[in-house]
Amino acid sequence: MKYNHGHAFLKIVSEKKPKHFLEIGVFTGVTARNTCELLNDIHGKDFQYTGLDLFEDYVPEHDHEIAPNMIRGNQQKFSNPLKHIVYNLILKEQLNSFNSVTKFLKKFKNQVELVKGDSKKTLPEIEIEKYDMIFVDGGHSFETVNFELQLIISKCKKDCLVLVDDYDHQVASGVKKAVDQIVSEKKLKLNIFSGRFAQISF
Ligand SMILES: C[S@@+](CC[C@H](N)C(=O)[O-])C[C@H]1O[C@@H](n2cnc3c(N)ncnc32)[C@H](O)[C@@H]1O
Repeated sequence: MKYNHGHAFLKIVSEKKPKHFLEIGVFTGVTARNTCELLNDIHGKDFQYTGLDLFEDYVPEHDHEIAPNMIRGNQQKFSNPLKHIVYNLILKEQLNSFNSVTKFLKKFKNQVELVKGDSKKTLPEIEIEKYDMIFVDGGHSFETVNFELQLIISKCKKDCLVLVDDYDHQVASGVKKAVDQIVSEKKLKLNIFSGRFAQISF
């Protein structure tokens, strides 16, 4: 996430002050780490972050989900050649793997729960009712976003802040289609922030 979008995202989190935060699509854990730092400033240790992702099980067969270029293909790609040497050749560390993200978030090990698997299998097992904020940024296909939103909207608290990333994304048009469809179907409210975050509310 670029600086200005990250800043807009953290502003939304700091205004909502969620104690229970769910992120679908953790990737390398950068947003997770920043969110945990912020929630730690607000609540001390009294918060919980849950993150769902395929982690290293993301394979080229999932490319219809339009994940970041870094993990599309068989080896993680870096624009910085030094990162390629360090992570791919020396450390042989896949930065979006479950172990790597767990290590990156270990400062908050008592607050963080990471769940590996396809959201179409893992999300139905999650207690959606307890979250104050849900950030939808996993698979970007219409099928996946639609599945997640239908489930979230049917179960979440009425004051839960549901935020979907990459609304209006040039390549991932399924995100906008899924958001627009549920908003119109269930007569919900839609607000767009920073040109990319869609907030859905009742
Ligand atoms: C755009 S990245 C998430 C970025 C992260 N939210 C951030 O701000 O740093 C999308 C992530 O969704 C994951 N993903 C894609 N399809 C998925 C699926 N069907 N179930 C679970 N995770 C999925 C990918 O593995 C990838 O890590």
